[in-house]
Amino acid sequence: MEAKDRLIVALDVPTVKAAEAMIETLGDAVSFYKIGYQLAFAGGLGLADALVRADRRVFIDLKLHDIGNTVGKGVESVARLGATFLTVHAYPQTMRAAVEARKGSGLRILGVTVLTSYDDADLAAAGYGRTVAALAAERAAQARDIGMDGLVCSAEEAAKLRAIAGPGMVLVTPGIRPAGAEAGDQKRIMTPAAAIAAGADYLVVGRPIVAASDPRGAALAIGAEIAAAVRQGRTA
Ligand code: C5P
Repeated sequence: MEAKDRLIVALDVPTVKAAEAMIETLGDAVSFYKIGYQLAFAGGLGLADALVRADRRVFIDLKLHDIGNTVGKGVESVARLGATFLTVHAYPQTMRAAVEARKGSGLRILGVTVLTSYDDADLAAAGYGRTVAALAAERAAQARDIGMDGLVCSAEEAAKLRAIAGPGMVLVTPGIRPAGAEAGDQKRIMTPAAAIAAGADYLVVGRPIVAASDPRGAALAIGAEIAAAVRQGRTA
């Protein structure tokens, strides 16, 4: 895999038109795009198909969670879009249904262990009697045992989750900020190089690219930082 293919740009824009303009601006600097709630519910799923036909990869970040039959049917539809990654909440029933339904396709299922906006008090309020760290570790182990393809996690958690998940699962990390970039609402951030060093396979980057005055330049710079970190990791 080329280093720049480890960069996933979050198309967090309000319209398909804005997304198309961003994709055009980024050109060959970016080969992988994430479509989340904002764009998907504004007609953006059609864009997934267009991207796949243009030889780009697509990450559908809709964090599915429902009864197994419904999850399975949804996963089959996402697989037909030609997407590469899809997120589901890391509940055992949901993960089992998703893994079963993606068989025979190129779709890989990523588990969201515990949403990064949750702290121990939020978990308690939601009825859980354990800490975020304990629940995330338990769900990562369940994901591994069920045969999930990967996990979404903060770069800070990557090393710990890698130890649980083993080398075969992909780790995808958001909350990436090049040195000097605005954090925005992200509280736990890491540079691209540090995230790769921590064991991330793919980095999700939104605002540092899509809100930059020169998005293509920003993407190329992050791609170069990833490449240098991967080379350094190989020689370390
Ligand atoms: O703009 P920014 O780089 O912060 O965007 C990060 C992207 O990753 C957003 O699409 C956000 O929804 C997503 N994400 C995240 N934290 C998670 C999971 C997903 O920031 N724990």
